Amino acid sequence: MKEVELKSVIQECQMGELTASECELLEQAIEATSRSYAPYSHFCVGAAVRLKNGEVVIGCNQENAAYPSGLCAERTALFSAGAQYPDVPVRMLSIAARGTDGELMEEPVGPCGSCRQVIIESETRAKAPIRILLYGRKYIYVIDGIRELMPLTFSEF
Ligand code: THU
Repeated sequence: MKEVELKSVIQECQMGELTASECELLEQAIEATSRSYAPYSHFCVGAAVRLKNGEVVIGCNQENAAYPSGLCAERTALFSAGAQYPDVPVRMLSIAARGTDGELMEEPVGPCGSCRQVIIESETRAKAPIRILLYGRKYIYVIDGIRELMPLTFSEF
């Protein structure tokens, strides 16, 4: 048997190192955390999607007393973008979260597995990688395409 190493490369930076449009998209994800409906977990996640036409669509987690019926911020944003602009490719996605103390997380929070799968589908539709920005108070992660977070993706059958 041969060992196969799957490598993932992402960037760590500070707000000042990002473009104006990237900073703005992160700010929109941060703002979206305040619209989160999270009475059960008290973990408020915000996401913002920038499309090829420049439009920004935000999302935040929407919880439910029947737990599985809720939805994550990332999917709320991506599905909303898909509903409002079905033919416009997604270019960038930013994510921010507030912990149960109400403070923005010190370290970046990554999308859950189901959201990663939905991001793959958005990349397939866009025919290009989506730049993903994960906000943390200490540092920001910049990821050029979901494949860096999810190797051996399932995207076609
Ligand atoms: N959550 C998100 O919105 N995005 C993620 O990628 C991970 C988790 C939400 C779901 C739930 O409302 C709360 O965070 C706690 O899991």
